Amino acid sequence: MGRFDGRGAIITGGALGIGGGCARRIAAEGARVLIVDINEEAADGNVKGIRDAGGVAEFMVGDVAQESVAAEMVETAISSFGRLDLLVQNAYGGGADSAGSAVEIKPESWHRGMDLLVGALYLGAKFGVPAMEESGVDPNFEETPWEGGGRRHGVPPAQNVGRIVNMSSVHGILNAPRSMIYEAGKAAVIGLTRQMAVDFGPLGITVNAIAPGHIVTERGESMWDEVGNDAGFRLFELHYPVRRTGIPEDIANAVAFLCSNEASFITGQVLAVDGGMTIQLQENIVMDTKNYIAANPDLRTHFDNTEGDTSRW
Ligand SMILES: NC(=O)c1ccc[n+]([C@@H]2O[C@H](COP(=O)([O-])OP(=O)(O)OC[C@H]3O[C@@H](n4cnc5c(N)ncnc54)[C@H](O)[C@@H]3O)[C@@H](O)[C@H]2O)c1
Repeated sequence: MGRFDGRGAIITGGALGIGGGCARRIAAEGARVLIVDINEEAADGNVKGIRDAGGVAEFMVGDVAQESVAAEMVETAISSFGRLDLLVQNAYGGGADSAGSAVEIKPESWHRGMDLLVGALYLGAKFGVPAMEESGVDPNFEETPWEGGGRRHGVPPAQNVGRIVNMSSVHGILNAPRSMIYEAGKAAVIGLTRQMAVDFGPLGITVNAIAPGHIVTERGESMWDEVGNDAGFRLFELHYPVRRTGIPEDIANAVAFLCSNEASFITGQVLAVDGGMTIQLQENIVMDTKNYIAANPDLRTHFDNTEGDTSRW
């Protein structure tokens, strides 16, 4: 039996990249998966791949920042799968004018960014949590009486009713210059996750966040192909104690664990899946990589396609 046999799952932004990997992994472990994405062609492609591999999946096209889409995705999961157990809130697509400090960004960019980075996660929970509650514990879950090491009295606590995993970022923990919308949004995801964990823990629903490091996705790959080179990519890898950057499967592994019954005592946490990048002292990294940069003057990274400096000298 798969860990998620019989469960209904929604993965936002599940067509490509990290969400694409999460959808494939959760479906491979038995869940019926609804991908919600604005990219119809890619969503269709991922669904076909999952079905070819023997999984159950479908997709819905929609912008998850819209209240009507959040409501519809939950209705669709319930009507298609009969239940909702897992909600992975991952969709984000940047925006043409999303870079800049508070002085530089436009109010409309701020509102649009926050609606997707933060508002969509609120909406997903607003409609998803009541549906999880109504679905109850999935029928394949073997409820063993909870005795709390012999000290438990009264009614057993609700467990394994639902799982929410919100995608934050290492940018929610550490701040890059001139990235007001993304950094504030991803930090807010951590606050929102903690709040939801407190609110929904008593219902048997856990809520956690993942903070990925640099993950090379299909889109990231083409950005690197466009403006980066091998020496530049190696520079990125040198920032990671494990000396590599991530792939969507690295994040999917962590998401699957947080969605599993084994993780029922973990809630409100932010798990950095970043090869140790955020535990290092920044000033040492800069000094350690100084010689490498000097020895590789032709290195190019995908940052080189941004207009102007990302920081001030
Ligand atoms: N790739 C990384 O290095 C990295 C690092 C840290 C955090 N993240 C976070 O992980 C998540 C996924 O990033 P990714 O790199 O896989 O991105 P991606 O661009 O490869 O994939 C994002 C998916 O979300 C979809 N999407 C975008 N806007 C949407 C919307 N409004 N409604 C529904 N779907 C929408 C896209 O069509 C796409 O399929 C994001 O929240 C991102 O901030 C990524």
